[in-house]
Amino acid sequence: MLELKNITKIFPGVKALNDVSITFKRGEIHALMGENGAGKSTLMKIITGIHQAEMGEMYLDGKLLKNKSFQDAVNNSINMVSQEIQVIPESTIGENIILDRINNFKKNGIVDWKAIHQIAQKYLELVGLDIKPTEKIGGLTAAQKQLTQIAKALSSHAKYILMDEPTSSLTKYEADNLIQIVKKLKQDNVCVIFVSHKIEEVMVLCDKVSVLRDGQYAGTRDCKDITRQDIVKLMIGREEVDEHLGYLDTSDDKVLEVKGLSRYGQFNKIDMELYKGEILGLYGLVGSGRTELAKLIIGAEKMDSGEIFIGGEKVSIKSISDSLYRYKLGYITENRKEEGLILSDTVLNNLSITIWNKLTNKFRKINLKQEKILGSQMINKIKVKTPSSDTPVGNLSGGNQQKVSIGKWLAAGCDVLIIDEPTVGVDVGAKEYIHELIWKLAKEEGKSIILISSDMPELIKLSRRILVFREFEIVGEVKGLNEKEYKYEEVSELIGECM
Ligand SMILES: Nc1ncnc2c1ncn2[C@@H]1O[C@H](COP(=O)(O)OP(=O)(O)OP(=O)(O)O)[C@@H](O)[C@H]1O
Ligand SMILES: [Mg+2]
Repeated sequence: MLELKNITKIFPGVKALNDVSITFKRGEIHALMGENGAGKSTLMKIITGIHQAEMGEMYLDGKLLKNKSFQDAVNNSINMVSQEIQVIPESTIGENIILDRINNFKKNGIVDWKAIHQIAQKYLELVGLDIKPTEKIGGLTAAQKQLTQIAKALSSHAKYILMDEPTSSLTKYEADNLIQIVKKLKQDNVCVIFVSHKIEEVMVLCDKVSVLRDGQYAGTRDCKDITRQDIVKLMIGREEVDEHLGYLDTSDDKVLEVKGLSRYGQFNKIDMELYKGEILGLYGLVGSGRTELAKLIIGAEKMDSGEIFIGGEKVSIKSISDSLYRYKLGYITENRKEEGLILSDTVLNNLSITIWNKLTNKFRKINLKQEKILGSQMINKIKVKTPSSDTPVGNLSGGNQQKVSIGKWLAAGCDVLIIDEPTVGVDVGAKEYIHELIWKLAKEEGKSIILISSDMPELIKLSRRILVFREFEIVGEVKGLNEKEYKYEEVSELIGECM
Protein backbone atom coordinates (compact mmCIF):
# COMPACT_ATOMS: atom_id res chain seq x y z
CA MET A 1 0.00 0.00 0.00
CA LEU A 2 0.91 3.63 -0.48
CA GLU A 3 0.60 5.84 2.57
CA LEU A 4 0.76 9.60 2.56
CA LYS A 5 1.39 11.13 5.95
CA ASN A 6 0.95 14.80 6.83
CA ILE A 7 1.81 16.11 3.38
CA THR A 8 2.12 19.90 3.14
CA LYS A 9 2.98 21.77 -0.04
CA ILE A 10 3.41 25.48 -0.33
CA PHE A 11 3.62 27.48 -3.55
CA PRO A 12 4.35 31.23 -3.47
CA GLY A 13 1.18 32.73 -2.01
CA VAL A 14 -0.75 29.42 -1.67
CA LYS A 15 -0.76 26.51 0.71
CA ALA A 16 -1.80 23.97 -1.89
CA LEU A 17 -1.81 21.05 0.56
CA ASN A 18 -2.07 21.25 4.31
CA ASP A 19 -1.30 18.19 6.44
CA VAL A 20 -2.91 15.63 4.13
CA SER A 21 -2.84 11.92 5.08
CA ILE A 22 -4.43 9.29 2.83
CA THR A 23 -3.77 5.56 2.32
CA PHE A 24 -4.16 3.91 -1.09
CA LYS A 25 -4.28 0.11 -1.39
CA ARG A 26 -3.43 -2.27 -4.21
CA GLY A 27 -6.47 -3.65 -5.99
CA GLU A 28 -8.67 -0.65 -5.29
CA ILE A 29 -9.95 2.15 -7.48
CA HIS A 30 -9.65 5.17 -5.27
CA ALA A 31 -11.20 8.45 -6.40
CA LEU A 32 -9.74 11.78 -5.40
CA MET A 33 -12.23 14.62 -5.58
CA GLY A 34 -12.46 18.26 -4.63
CA GLU A 35 -13.18 21.68 -6.03
CA ASN A 36 -10.94 23.38 -8.57
CA GLY A 37 -7.76 24.35 -6.79
CA ALA A 38 -8.36 21.96 -3.87
CA GLY A 39 -4.95 20.38 -4.45
CA LYS A 40 -5.70 17.13 -6.31
CA SER A 41 -3.15 17.56 -9.10
CA THR A 42 -0.56 18.82 -6.62
CA LEU A 43 -0.98 15.66 -4.58
CA MET A 44 -0.60 13.52 -7.70
CA LYS A 45 2.56 15.42 -8.59
CA ILE A 46 4.03 14.89 -5.15
CA ILE A 47 3.38 11.15 -5.30
CA THR A 48 5.08 11.04 -8.70
CA GLY A 49 8.09 13.13 -7.73
CA ILE A 50 7.28 16.10 -9.98
CA HIS A 51 6.90 18.29 -6.90
CA GLN A 52 8.50 17.85 -3.49
CA ALA A 53 6.47 18.31 -0.31
CA GLU A 54 7.70 20.80 2.29
CA MET A 55 6.53 18.49 5.06
CA GLY A 56 5.29 14.94 5.44
CA GLU A 57 6.35 11.49 4.28
CA MET A 58 5.25 8.79 1.89
CA TYR A 59 5.55 5.06 2.53
CA LEU A 60 5.36 2.26 -0.01
CA ASP A 61 4.58 -1.07 1.65
CA GLY A 62 5.87 0.31 4.92
CA LYS A 63 9.15 1.59 3.48
CA LEU A 64 9.91 5.30 3.26
CA LEU A 65 9.38 6.44 -0.32
CA LYS A 66 11.38 9.33 -1.71
CA ASN A 67 10.53 10.25 -5.27
CA LYS A 68 12.83 13.07 -6.27
CA SER A 69 11.80 12.95 -9.91
CA PHE A 70 9.17 11.39 -12.12
CA GLN A 71 11.79 8.87 -13.16
CA ASP A 72 12.12 7.76 -9.51
CA ALA A 73 8.37 7.21 -9.34
CA VAL A 74 8.41 5.14 -12.53
CA ASN A 75 11.25 3.07 -11.06
CA ASN A 76 9.08 2.54 -7.96
CA SER A 77 6.20 1.21 -10.11
CA ILE A 78 4.17 4.39 -9.93
CA ASN A 79 2.94 6.10 -13.09
CA MET A 80 0.58 8.91 -13.97
CA VAL A 81 -1.66 10.19 -16.70
CA SER A 82 -1.48 13.90 -16.03
CA GLN A 83 -4.20 16.51 -16.40
CA GLU A 84 -2.16 18.53 -18.83
CA ILE A 85 -1.61 16.56 -21.98
CA GLN A 86 2.15 16.29 -22.23
CA VAL A 87 3.41 15.07 -25.56
CA ILE A 88 6.39 15.90 -27.72
CA PRO A 89 4.56 16.95 -30.89
CA GLU A 90 7.47 16.35 -33.26
CA SER A 91 8.12 12.78 -32.22
CA THR A 92 6.14 9.67 -33.06
CA ILE A 93 3.39 8.08 -31.04
CA GLY A 94 5.62 5.10 -30.31
CA GLU A 95 8.42 7.32 -29.00
CA ASN A 96 6.00 9.16 -26.75
CA ILE A 97 4.68 5.92 -25.30
CA ILE A 98 8.05 4.49 -24.25
CA LEU A 99 9.64 7.87 -23.50
CA ASP A 100 10.36 7.22 -19.82
CA ARG A 101 11.82 3.78 -20.48
CA ILE A 102 13.78 4.28 -23.68
CA ASN A 103 16.91 2.95 -21.97
CA ASN A 104 15.27 -0.46 -21.68
CA PHE A 105 15.14 -0.57 -25.45
CA LYS A 106 18.79 0.26 -26.04
CA LYS A 107 21.43 -2.35 -26.59
CA ASN A 108 25.03 -1.28 -27.16
CA GLY A 109 23.77 2.18 -27.96
CA ILE A 110 21.34 0.96 -30.59
CA VAL A 111 17.63 1.54 -30.16
CA ASP A 112 15.39 -1.42 -30.98
CA TRP A 113 12.65 0.41 -32.89
CA LYS A 114 10.88 -2.74 -33.90
CA ALA A 115 10.34 -3.73 -30.28
CA ILE A 116 9.22 -0.20 -29.39
CA HIS A 117 6.65 -0.14 -32.15
CA GLN A 118 5.35 -3.58 -31.30
CA ILE A 119 4.78 -2.66 -27.68
CA ALA A 120 3.28 0.70 -28.58
CA GLN A 121 0.92 -0.99 -31.04
CA LYS A 122 -0.29 -3.40 -28.36
CA TYR A 123 -1.18 -0.62 -25.93
CA LEU A 124 -2.71 1.60 -28.60
CA GLU A 125 -5.06 -1.26 -29.42
CA LEU A 126 -5.83 -1.75 -25.76
CA VAL A 127 -7.04 1.84 -25.38
CA GLY A 128 -8.99 1.56 -28.63
CA LEU A 129 -6.83 3.81 -30.81
CA ASP A 130 -6.68 2.82 -34.44
CA ILE A 131 -3.45 4.64 -35.31
CA LYS A 132 0.08 3.66 -36.19
CA PRO A 133 2.91 4.08 -33.63
CA THR A 134 5.05 5.54 -36.41
CA GLU A 135 2.77 8.55 -36.93
CA LYS A 136 3.68 11.95 -35.47
CA ILE A 137 1.76 12.61 -32.28
CA GLY A 138 1.30 16.34 -32.97
CA GLY A 139 -1.50 15.79 -35.47
CA LEU A 140 -3.79 13.89 -33.09
CA THR A 141 -6.94 15.32 -31.51
CA ALA A 142 -6.99 16.12 -27.80
CA ALA A 143 -8.88 12.89 -27.07
CA GLN A 144 -6.42 10.80 -29.06
CA LYS A 145 -3.48 12.42 -27.27
CA GLN A 146 -5.17 11.70 -23.96
CA LEU A 147 -5.54 8.05 -24.94
CA THR A 148 -1.87 7.78 -25.93
CA GLN A 149 -0.97 9.10 -22.47
CA ILE A 150 -3.11 6.36 -20.97
CA ALA A 151 -1.43 3.78 -23.22
CA LYS A 152 1.92 5.10 -22.03
CA ALA A 153 1.03 4.68 -18.35
CA LEU A 154 -0.39 1.19 -18.94
CA SER A 155 2.68 0.05 -20.85
CA SER A 156 4.87 0.72 -17.81
CA HIS A 157 3.26 -2.11 -15.79
CA ALA A 158 3.04 0.17 -12.79
CA LYS A 159 1.43 -1.07 -9.58
CA TYR A 160 0.00 2.36 -8.85
CA ILE A 161 -1.50 4.30 -11.72
CA LEU A 162 -2.65 7.86 -11.11
CA MET A 163 -5.13 9.31 -13.56
CA ASP A 164 -5.81 13.04 -13.35
CA GLU A 165 -9.16 13.72 -15.03
CA PRO A 166 -8.54 11.10 -17.71
CA THR A 167 -12.03 11.24 -19.19
CA SER A 168 -12.39 15.02 -19.45
CA SER A 169 -11.61 15.17 -23.16
CA LEU A 170 -12.98 11.76 -24.14
CA THR A 171 -16.26 10.93 -25.85
CA LYS A 172 -18.69 8.71 -24.02
CA TYR A 173 -17.59 5.71 -26.07
CA GLU A 174 -13.90 6.26 -25.28
CA ALA A 175 -14.65 6.96 -21.63
CA ASP A 176 -16.63 3.71 -21.36
CA ASN A 177 -13.68 1.85 -22.83
CA LEU A 178 -11.33 3.46 -20.33
CA ILE A 179 -13.61 2.44 -17.49
CA GLN A 180 -13.36 -1.17 -18.63
CA ILE A 181 -9.55 -0.86 -18.70
CA VAL A 182 -9.50 0.56 -15.17
CA LYS A 183 -11.68 -2.32 -13.93
CA LYS A 184 -9.25 -4.77 -15.51
CA LEU A 185 -6.33 -3.05 -13.76
CA LYS A 186 -8.11 -3.55 -10.47
CA GLN A 187 -8.47 -7.27 -11.19
CA ASP A 188 -4.73 -7.34 -11.83
CA ASN A 189 -4.22 -5.93 -8.33
CA VAL A 190 -3.17 -2.49 -9.53
CA CYS A 191 -4.22 0.54 -7.48
CA VAL A 192 -5.80 3.24 -9.63
CA ILE A 193 -6.04 6.72 -8.14
CA PHE A 194 -8.70 8.43 -10.18
CA VAL A 195 -9.25 12.19 -10.18
CA SER A 196 -12.54 13.28 -11.67
CA HIS A 197 -15.21 15.95 -11.38
CA LYS A 198 -17.85 13.57 -12.70
CA ILE A 199 -19.60 12.32 -9.60
CA GLU A 200 -21.69 9.71 -11.41
CA GLU A 201 -18.59 8.25 -13.00
CA VAL A 202 -16.88 8.01 -9.62
CA MET A 203 -19.89 6.39 -7.94
CA VAL A 204 -20.13 3.57 -10.48
CA LEU A 205 -16.41 2.98 -10.96
CA CYS A 206 -14.60 3.58 -7.70
CA ASP A 207 -14.41 1.64 -4.44
CA LYS A 208 -13.38 4.59 -2.31
CA VAL A 209 -13.43 8.34 -2.59
CA SER A 210 -11.17 10.73 -0.71
CA VAL A 211 -12.00 14.41 -0.77
CA LEU A 212 -9.78 17.46 -0.51
CA ARG A 213 -11.18 20.83 0.41
CA ASP A 214 -8.99 23.89 0.07
CA GLY A 215 -5.80 21.88 0.45
CA GLN A 216 -7.06 19.96 3.45
CA TYR A 217 -8.16 16.37 3.78
CA ALA A 218 -11.96 16.28 4.19
CA GLY A 219 -12.47 12.52 4.51
CA THR A 220 -12.57 9.12 2.81
CA ARG A 221 -15.77 7.13 2.18
CA ASP A 222 -16.76 3.82 0.67
CA CYS A 223 -18.54 4.61 -2.59
CA LYS A 224 -21.22 2.01 -1.98
CA ASP A 225 -22.30 3.76 1.22
CA ILE A 226 -22.80 7.28 -0.05
CA THR A 227 -24.94 9.44 -2.31
CA ARG A 228 -24.10 12.16 -4.79
CA GLN A 229 -25.22 14.77 -2.27
CA ASP A 230 -22.86 13.35 0.37
CA ILE A 231 -19.89 13.79 -1.95
CA VAL A 232 -20.94 17.30 -2.93
CA LYS A 233 -21.29 18.25 0.70
CA LEU A 234 -17.84 16.90 1.52
CA MET A 235 -16.39 18.85 -1.38
CA ILE A 236 -18.05 22.23 -1.07
CA GLY A 237 -19.37 22.14 2.47
CA ARG A 238 -22.96 22.69 1.36
CA GLU A 239 -25.66 21.10 -0.75
CA GLU A 240 -25.80 21.62 -4.47
CA VAL A 241 -28.52 23.94 -5.70
CA ASP A 242 -29.85 22.79 -8.99
CA GLU A 243 -32.81 24.95 -9.62
CA HIS A 244 -34.44 26.23 -12.74
CA LEU A 245 -32.86 29.57 -13.51
CA GLY A 246 -36.04 31.25 -14.77
CA TYR A 247 -37.23 32.25 -18.18
CA LEU A 248 -35.52 34.08 -20.98
CA ASP A 249 -37.63 36.58 -22.88
CA THR A 250 -35.91 36.74 -26.18
CA SER A 251 -36.98 39.23 -28.84
CA ASP A 252 -37.64 38.59 -32.51
CA ASP A 253 -34.46 40.40 -33.53
CA LYS A 254 -32.20 38.05 -35.40
CA VAL A 255 -28.68 38.90 -34.34
CA LEU A 256 -27.04 36.15 -36.31
CA GLU A 257 -28.24 34.20 -39.29
CA VAL A 258 -26.46 31.48 -41.19
CA LYS A 259 -27.83 30.56 -44.63
CA GLY A 260 -26.82 27.62 -46.77
CA LEU A 261 -23.43 27.22 -45.18
CA SER A 262 -21.48 24.47 -46.90
CA ARG A 263 -18.01 23.05 -46.75
CA TYR A 264 -16.86 20.20 -48.90
CA GLY A 265 -16.80 16.89 -47.05
CA GLN A 266 -18.49 18.41 -44.00
CA PHE A 267 -21.51 20.67 -44.05
CA ASN A 268 -24.17 20.81 -46.71
CA LYS A 269 -26.44 23.88 -46.62
CA ILE A 270 -26.74 24.55 -42.93
CA ASP A 271 -29.34 27.15 -41.87
CA MET A 272 -29.41 28.54 -38.38
CA GLU A 273 -30.58 31.66 -36.60
CA LEU A 274 -29.95 33.22 -33.25
CA TYR A 275 -32.16 35.85 -31.57
CA LYS A 276 -31.27 38.66 -29.25
CA GLY A 277 -31.02 37.52 -25.66
CA GLU A 278 -31.32 33.88 -26.61
CA ILE A 279 -29.27 30.91 -25.47
CA LEU A 280 -29.22 28.41 -28.31
CA GLY A 281 -27.89 25.00 -27.37
CA LEU A 282 -26.02 22.79 -29.82
CA TYR A 283 -26.14 19.15 -28.81
CA GLY A 284 -24.41 16.22 -30.43
CA LEU A 285 -21.68 13.73 -29.80
CA VAL A 286 -18.08 14.92 -29.82
CA GLY A 287 -17.10 15.09 -33.49
CA SER A 288 -20.62 15.79 -34.76
CA GLY A 289 -19.51 19.10 -36.26
CA ARG A 290 -20.50 21.71 -33.68
CA THR A 291 -17.02 23.13 -33.07
CA GLU A 292 -16.27 23.04 -36.79
CA LEU A 293 -19.42 25.07 -37.44
CA ALA A 294 -18.37 27.63 -34.83
CA LYS A 295 -14.97 27.95 -36.49
CA LEU A 296 -16.54 28.60 -39.88
CA ILE A 297 -18.80 31.27 -38.43
CA ILE A 298 -16.00 33.18 -36.71
CA GLY A 299 -13.75 33.01 -39.75
CA ALA A 300 -11.12 30.69 -38.25
CA GLU A 301 -11.85 28.26 -41.07
CA LYS A 302 -13.15 28.95 -44.59
CA MET A 303 -16.52 27.87 -45.87
CA ASP A 304 -17.07 26.95 -49.52
CA SER A 305 -20.42 28.67 -49.83
CA GLY A 306 -23.14 30.22 -47.73
CA GLU A 307 -23.99 33.56 -46.17
CA ILE A 308 -23.74 34.99 -42.70
CA PHE A 309 -25.84 37.94 -41.51
CA ILE A 310 -25.16 39.90 -38.37
CA GLY A 311 -27.92 42.26 -37.27
CA GLY A 312 -29.56 41.70 -40.67
CA GLU A 313 -26.50 42.76 -42.62
CA LYS A 314 -24.55 40.37 -44.78
CA VAL A 315 -20.99 40.07 -43.53
CA SER A 316 -17.78 38.47 -44.62
CA ILE A 317 -15.72 37.52 -41.58
CA LYS A 318 -12.10 36.98 -42.48
CA SER A 319 -10.46 36.06 -39.21
CA ILE A 320 -11.02 35.68 -35.50
CA SER A 321 -9.92 39.25 -34.82
CA ASP A 322 -12.23 40.48 -37.56
CA SER A 323 -15.04 38.59 -35.88
CA LEU A 324 -14.23 40.06 -32.50
CA TYR A 325 -13.42 43.68 -33.30
CA ARG A 326 -15.68 44.33 -36.27
CA TYR A 327 -18.67 42.21 -35.39
CA LYS A 328 -18.43 41.73 -31.62
CA LEU A 329 -18.69 38.03 -32.08
CA GLY A 330 -16.52 35.97 -29.72
CA TYR A 331 -15.69 32.28 -29.52
CA ILE A 332 -14.68 30.67 -26.24
CA THR A 333 -12.72 27.63 -27.26
CA GLU A 334 -13.12 24.15 -25.81
CA ASN A 335 -9.40 23.75 -26.21
CA ARG A 336 -8.20 26.30 -23.68
CA LYS A 337 -4.68 24.90 -23.27
CA GLU A 338 -3.75 25.05 -26.92
CA GLU A 339 -5.89 27.86 -28.28
CA GLY A 340 -7.43 29.82 -25.45
CA LEU A 341 -4.68 30.85 -23.09
CA ILE A 342 -1.03 31.81 -23.01
CA LEU A 343 -0.04 29.66 -20.06
CA SER A 344 3.28 31.35 -19.32
CA ASP A 345 1.69 34.81 -19.24
CA THR A 346 -0.09 36.36 -16.27
CA VAL A 347 -3.78 36.05 -15.40
CA LEU A 348 -4.10 39.79 -16.04
CA ASN A 349 -2.60 39.70 -19.52
CA ASN A 350 -4.68 36.71 -20.49
CA LEU A 351 -7.83 38.48 -19.36
CA SER A 352 -7.07 41.78 -21.00
CA ILE A 353 -5.55 40.60 -24.28
CA THR A 354 -8.90 41.06 -26.04
CA ILE A 355 -9.20 44.68 -24.91
CA TRP A 356 -5.66 45.90 -25.42
CA ASN A 357 -6.80 47.82 -28.47
CA LYS A 358 -9.23 49.76 -26.27
CA LEU A 359 -6.64 50.42 -23.60
CA THR A 360 -4.01 51.70 -26.00
CA ASN A 361 -3.43 55.42 -26.48
CA LYS A 362 -2.29 57.10 -29.68
CA PHE A 363 1.35 56.43 -28.83
CA ARG A 364 0.55 52.72 -28.72
CA LYS A 365 1.06 52.58 -24.99
CA ILE A 366 -1.30 50.47 -22.94
CA ASN A 367 -2.91 52.18 -19.96
CA LEU A 368 -1.59 49.75 -17.35
CA LYS A 369 -3.52 51.25 -14.47
CA GLN A 370 -6.79 50.91 -16.30
CA GLU A 371 -5.84 47.40 -17.36
CA LYS A 372 -5.23 46.39 -13.76
CA ILE A 373 -8.58 47.82 -12.62
CA LEU A 374 -10.55 46.05 -15.33
CA GLY A 375 -8.59 42.84 -14.80
CA SER A 376 -9.21 42.82 -11.05
CA GLN A 377 -12.91 43.45 -11.61
CA MET A 378 -13.08 40.47 -13.92
CA ILE A 379 -11.17 38.24 -11.50
CA ASN A 380 -13.77 39.10 -8.84
CA LYS A 381 -16.71 38.78 -11.20
CA ILE A 382 -15.86 35.25 -12.27
CA LYS A 383 -14.25 34.27 -8.96
CA VAL A 384 -10.85 33.14 -10.21
CA LYS A 385 -8.86 31.57 -7.39
CA THR A 386 -5.39 33.04 -7.83
CA PRO A 387 -2.81 34.52 -5.45
CA SER A 388 -2.63 37.65 -7.62
CA SER A 389 -3.37 38.98 -11.07
CA ASP A 390 0.35 38.65 -11.88
CA THR A 391 0.41 34.88 -11.38
CA PRO A 392 1.10 32.94 -14.59
CA VAL A 393 -2.11 31.29 -15.77
CA GLY A 394 -0.24 27.99 -16.05
CA ASN A 395 0.08 27.93 -12.25
CA LEU A 396 -3.67 27.98 -11.69
CA SER A 397 -5.64 24.80 -11.24
CA GLY A 398 -7.34 23.47 -14.38
CA GLY A 399 -10.80 24.74 -13.51
CA ASN A 400 -9.55 28.20 -12.68
CA GLN A 401 -7.80 28.36 -16.04
CA GLN A 402 -11.18 27.65 -17.60
CA LYS A 403 -12.68 30.63 -15.77
CA VAL A 404 -9.93 32.91 -17.12
CA SER A 405 -10.61 31.61 -20.61
CA ILE A 406 -14.26 32.62 -20.26
CA GLY A 407 -13.43 35.92 -18.56
CA LYS A 408 -11.21 37.00 -21.42
CA TRP A 409 -14.15 37.00 -23.81
CA LEU A 410 -16.51 38.58 -21.33
CA ALA A 411 -14.02 41.43 -20.99
CA ALA A 412 -14.14 41.94 -24.73
CA GLY A 413 -17.80 42.96 -24.48
CA CYS A 414 -19.07 40.78 -27.32
CA ASP A 415 -22.73 40.89 -28.32
CA VAL A 416 -22.73 37.33 -29.56
CA LEU A 417 -20.75 34.61 -27.83
CA ILE A 418 -20.17 31.08 -28.97
CA ILE A 419 -19.22 29.11 -25.88
CA ASP A 420 -17.77 25.65 -26.46
CA GLU A 421 -17.93 23.08 -23.61
CA PRO A 422 -17.58 25.70 -20.85
CA THR A 423 -17.61 23.37 -17.87
CA VAL A 424 -15.32 20.52 -18.87
CA GLY A 425 -13.04 19.92 -15.87
CA VAL A 426 -14.94 22.40 -13.71
CA ASP A 427 -16.11 21.42 -10.22
CA VAL A 428 -19.78 21.38 -9.15
CA GLY A 429 -19.68 24.70 -7.33
CA ALA A 430 -17.91 26.56 -10.14
CA LYS A 431 -20.19 24.87 -12.65
CA GLU A 432 -23.29 26.29 -10.96
CA TYR A 433 -21.52 29.59 -11.01
CA ILE A 434 -20.59 29.48 -14.71
CA HIS A 435 -24.18 28.49 -15.54
CA GLU A 436 -25.48 31.50 -13.69
CA LEU A 437 -22.93 33.71 -15.41
CA ILE A 438 -23.98 32.55 -18.87
CA TRP A 439 -27.63 32.89 -17.95
CA LYS A 440 -27.20 36.43 -16.66
CA LEU A 441 -25.31 37.46 -19.79
CA ALA A 442 -28.43 36.64 -21.77
CA LYS A 443 -31.07 37.67 -19.26
CA GLU A 444 -29.60 40.88 -17.87
CA GLU A 445 -27.22 42.05 -20.56
CA GLY A 446 -29.19 40.89 -23.59
CA LYS A 447 -26.26 38.96 -25.04
CA SER A 448 -26.99 36.20 -27.50
CA ILE A 449 -25.27 32.93 -26.88
CA ILE A 450 -24.62 29.75 -28.79
CA LEU A 451 -23.81 27.09 -26.25
CA ILE A 452 -22.03 23.95 -27.42
CA SER A 453 -22.14 21.21 -24.81
CA SER A 454 -22.08 17.44 -24.55
CA ASP A 455 -23.44 17.71 -21.02
CA MET A 456 -27.16 17.24 -21.57
CA PRO A 457 -28.35 18.48 -18.14
CA GLU A 458 -26.31 21.65 -18.66
CA LEU A 459 -27.79 22.27 -22.07
CA ILE A 460 -31.35 21.63 -20.96
CA LYS A 461 -30.92 23.89 -17.95
CA LEU A 462 -29.67 26.85 -19.96
CA SER A 463 -31.04 26.70 -23.49
CA ARG A 464 -34.19 28.17 -24.93
CA ARG A 465 -33.86 26.05 -28.04
CA ILE A 466 -31.60 23.11 -28.77
CA LEU A 467 -30.34 22.06 -32.20
CA VAL A 468 -29.24 18.47 -32.44
CA PHE A 469 -26.22 17.64 -34.62
CA ARG A 470 -25.22 14.37 -36.16
CA GLU A 471 -22.41 13.96 -38.67
CA PHE A 472 -22.32 17.64 -39.69
CA GLU A 473 -26.07 17.87 -40.10
CA ILE A 474 -28.76 19.46 -37.99
CA VAL A 475 -31.07 16.50 -37.42
CA GLY A 476 -33.55 18.06 -35.04
CA GLU A 477 -34.66 21.04 -33.00
CA VAL A 478 -36.22 21.16 -29.54
CA LYS A 479 -38.12 24.43 -29.07
CA GLY A 480 -39.83 26.42 -26.39
CA LEU A 481 -37.76 25.22 -23.48
CA ASN A 482 -38.24 28.43 -21.58
CA GLU A 483 -41.98 28.63 -22.00
CA LYS A 484 -42.87 26.04 -19.40
CA GLU A 485 -41.14 24.41 -16.50
CA TYR A 486 -39.10 21.81 -18.35
CA LYS A 487 -38.94 18.19 -17.37
CA TYR A 488 -35.42 16.93 -17.84
CA GLU A 489 -36.54 13.42 -18.84
CA GLU A 490 -38.99 14.74 -21.44
CA VAL A 491 -36.43 16.95 -23.11
CA SER A 492 -33.66 14.37 -23.10
CA GLU A 493 -36.09 11.93 -24.70
CA LEU A 494 -36.93 14.48 -27.41
CA ILE A 495 -33.23 14.98 -28.07
CA GLY A 496 -32.66 11.24 -28.15
CA GLU A 497 -35.41 10.82 -30.76
CA CYS A 498 -33.64 13.26 -33.08
CA MET A 499 -30.38 11.36 -32.95
N1 LIG B 1 3.26 25.23 -10.13
C1 LIG B 1 2.49 25.98 -9.33
N2 LIG B 1 2.91 27.18 -8.89
C2 LIG B 1 2.15 27.92 -8.07
N3 LIG B 1 0.93 27.56 -7.63
C3 LIG B 1 0.45 26.38 -8.02
C4 LIG B 1 1.20 25.52 -8.90
N4 LIG B 1 0.47 24.41 -9.13
C5 LIG B 1 -0.68 24.56 -8.44
N5 LIG B 1 -0.70 25.74 -7.76
C6 LIG B 1 -1.77 26.21 -6.88
O1 LIG B 1 -2.04 25.21 -5.93
C7 LIG B 1 -3.44 25.09 -5.69
C8 LIG B 1 -3.89 23.66 -5.98
O2 LIG B 1 -3.85 23.44 -7.37
P1 LIG B 1 -4.14 22.04 -8.05
O3 LIG B 1 -3.76 22.16 -9.47
O4 LIG B 1 -3.54 20.96 -7.25
O5 LIG B 1 -5.75 21.95 -7.93
P2 LIG B 1 -6.74 20.83 -8.44
O6 LIG B 1 -7.44 20.30 -7.24
O7 LIG B 1 -6.02 19.85 -9.29
O8 LIG B 1 -7.80 21.67 -9.28
P3 LIG B 1 -8.54 21.38 -10.70
O9 LIG B 1 -9.76 20.59 -10.38
O10 LIG B 1 -8.94 22.75 -11.17
O11 LIG B 1 -7.58 20.70 -11.60
C9 LIG B 1 -4.11 26.13 -6.56
O12 LIG B 1 -4.36 27.26 -5.77
C10 LIG B 1 -3.07 26.43 -7.63
O13 LIG B 1 -3.20 27.74 -8.09
MG1 LIG C 1 -6.09 19.40 -11.28
